[in-house]
Amino acid sequence: MVIKNVALETVCGVTSTLPVNDKIEVAFAGKSNVGKSSLINALMNRKALARTSAQPGKTQTINFYNINNAMYLVDLPGYGYAKVAQSEKEKWGRMIERYLQKSQMLKAVFLLIDIRHDPSANDKLMYDWILYNGYEPIIIATKLDKIKRSQVQKQVKAVREGLGMKGGTVIPFSAETKQGRDEIWEMIDAWIAE
Ligand code: GTP
Ligand code: MG
Repeated sequence: MVIKNVALETVCGVTSTLPVNDKIEVAFAGKSNVGKSSLINALMNRKALARTSAQPGKTQTINFYNINNAMYLVDLPGYGYAKVAQSEKEKWGRMIERYLQKSQMLKAVFLLIDIRHDPSANDKLMYDWILYNGYEPIIIATKLDKIKRSQVQKQVKAVREGLGMKGGTVIPFSAETKQGRDEIWEMIDAWIAE
C-alpha cells in the first residue's frame, strides 16, 4: 500500500455507537503497552498520529484510521493494565467484545505479543476469543529490535506454544526498524483486492 492519505476518522468510547463502514477493517488487539499504536503509526508512515506512551493504558477508545479511503486500521484499547479499575476493565472488555462480534466489515484481527515474553493467560484468552468469533488470529511478535537475532526463532516458538497455535502466521515486527511492515501490508493489500 502506498500511503496517500490517512485520517483518524472515528473514536468510540464505551457508550458510542460503532461506525457502519463500507470498507474493510483490520483490528489490532493485545496487552497494554505491547505496541499496537506504534505498529499502526509504522503502517501509516506517521510518527505520532496514533498516540503512544511508555505508560500502559494510553489508548482507551476504539480508533478507526481511514487509509486512502480504501480500508481502516482499528486501534483497540489494551487489556491487562493493572492500574485501571476493575469496572473500567470490564467496560473496555465489553466494548472490544461488542466490536469483534458486531462489525460487518472486520476482515481480520491481528493479536500482538511482545516477542520477549511468553504469552500471558489474558493473551491466550484473547487468542481463543478471536478464534471463537470466527477469525484466524494473525500474531505479530512486537519489539523485535529488543532481542538478539539468534533468539528470534526460539521466542517465536515460545509464542506459538504459549498460545497453543496449530498453524497460522507469526510475524516478527519492530516499530523501530520497521521490519515486518511490508509483510503485514502484503496481507492487508490481498484482502482489499478480494
Ligand atoms: P496501549 O495504548 O496502552 O494499549 O499501548 P499500545 O499497545 O498502543 O503500545 P504503544 O504503541 O503506546 O507502545 C508502548 C511503548 O512501547 C512505547 O514506549 C513505544 O515506544 C514502545 N514500543 C512499541 N513498539 C516498539 C518496538 O517495536 N520496539 C521498541 N524498542 N519499542 C517499542
Ligand atoms: Mg495504544
